[in-house]
Amino acid sequence: MGLGSTDADHHGSDAMTGTEAGGPKHVAIIMDGNGRWAQRRAKPRLYGHHAGARRVRQIVEACPGLGVSHLTIFAFSTENWKRTQTEVAGLMSLFRRYIERETQALNAAGVRVRFIGDRIRLDGKLVALMDHLEQVTADNDSLHLTVALNYGSRDEVARATQRLAYEVAAGRINPSGVNENTLAQFLDTHVLPDPDLVIRTSGEARISNFLLWQSAYAEYEFINTLWPDFTPEVFARVIDRFGARDRRFGGVTR
Ligand code: IPE
Ligand code: IPE
Ligand code: MG
Repeated sequence: MGLGSTDADHHGSDAMTGTEAGGPKHVAIIMDGNGRWAQRRAKPRLYGHHAGARRVRQIVEACPGLGVSHLTIFAFSTENWKRTQTEVAGLMSLFRRYIERETQALNAAGVRVRFIGDRIRLDGKLVALMDHLEQVTADNDSLHLTVALNYGSRDEVARATQRLAYEVAAGRINPSGVNENTLAQFLDTHVLPDPDLVIRTSGEARISNFLLWQSAYAEYEFINTLWPDFTPEVFARVIDRFGARDRRFGGVTR
């Protein structure tokens, strides 16, 4: 089976598990636990990152059948540069190889890929591959896959504020008209809906600077499974639990 399902599958399952059944349309995942997964096997941390990367494809493939139209995954945070040079270099080379290897399959499956985060600190070769993947998949819409790479919410808000400040200084935006929507338009995620569900694997119950603004009303699931063990079956169970939640958005439903 290729990456993802056919268009017909996608629309069919949408009708069953999408908005009508109250399933999450936009799922964001903090893919954590690769290092511990490797340590438990007495392997170097990068071994865990490779296992984690293999898991991504299966989760991407599972989305259309689960009624998920948007998937956002945290691949590397603005704080992850603190790790050893070996780990950082290994991750960057893994990202390059992953994009090279998966571009064709992602495109064939109708996945539209976008990257969020600051590209300035990334290697030029990697940025070129990211740009290319975004371009070749630009017309797809069976799944909107967003990869957060050198992403941190505070950094994102700071960059957005700087651009907004330039617009104000240039006289193109009136400060008295600045509201939530104005700022949201300057965020990396400006074309995406807010996440309905944020999943973090590995047992840590923290956000680690991921989609702070966008997740104001997201539901959270912190699960103990380490990312390389996060199978489509585990994913489906987490999605299922979402249906039982009562999202009130500050209002009253009963
Ligand atoms: C998540 O796994 C992947 C990245 C942050 C790149 P970790 O590498 O954080 O794994 P643990 O948390 O050390 O187990
Ligand atoms: C968050 O995980 C970042 C990614 C999953 C890419 P970390 O492992 O970096 O987060 P902390 O350090 O445990 O908060
Ligand atoms: Mg971690």
